[in-house]
Amino acid sequence: MNTKKLIAGNWKMNGCLAANQTLMHELLSGVGQPACDVAVCPPAPYLAQVRQLLAASRVIDLGAQDVSQHEGGAFTGDVSATMLRDFGVRYCLCGHSERRLHQGETDVQVALKVKRALAAGITPIVCVGETLREREEGMTEFIVKRQLSAVIHLNGHCISEIVVAYEPVWAIGTGQTATPAQAQSVHAVLRAQLKAATDQAGRIRILYGGSMNAANAAELLAQPDIDGGLIGGASLKALDFLKIVAAAG
Ligand code: 13P
Repeated sequence: MNTKKLIAGNWKMNGCLAANQTLMHELLSGVGQPACDVAVCPPAPYLAQVRQLLAASRVIDLGAQDVSQHEGGAFTGDVSATMLRDFGVRYCLCGHSERRLHQGETDVQVALKVKRALAAGITPIVCVGETLREREEGMTEFIVKRQLSAVIHLNGHCISEIVVAYEPVWAIGTGQTATPAQAQSVHAVLRAQLKAATDQAGRIRILYGGSMNAANAAELLAQPDIDGGLIGGASLKALDFLKIVAAAG
């Protein structure tokens, strides 16, 4: 791939004003001029804080962890894509497995979220991935293709504007990373699916996520269809996250 890699930190439901400030200070003072794109996705209440801390930086972009499938109105607790845009959000995770699991998000809802993000000028990072059981049953390809196909179906020609993240559920927060070969083979499946949908598939970035860390990042990122990383735990430690950023150079 010729596209610039993307390393995005998903802070999940972690952080507080003081910790965010320290982390951002360490990231901004250590990041230099990376060869890849870099983003952090703090919890929604901290978007304004992190945006302010990033103000002088052109190197790190702001991302959100979720977006409402609705445009606006009586949806208590939801945050709309235009609200995110108001706060300078550039990327938005859609369909993270933790939301599919705990909030029961369906493929169709995820596809709607992607549509809202795109309409607001935000790049959705569409998360797909199989559970351990699904992998053991030989369902990996079926599951990730089903999840992505809902997004392709609803978003048509805009599909070249998305980022995809392959996050095997069994590798998230477990320390058990997919091997580079395992990850590459699923990424190749996703690339082929995108190719069938758009002639721009070569420029769609497909990130890997699931226990990516400073030690295993370089090997994963060297795979031909791995165009970056979506980092959970290791994104909360500045030094580790910066090492992953450096590995994407
Ligand atoms: P970990 O890096 O903690 O495994 O989390 C991955 C993830 O879910 C990123 O979205």
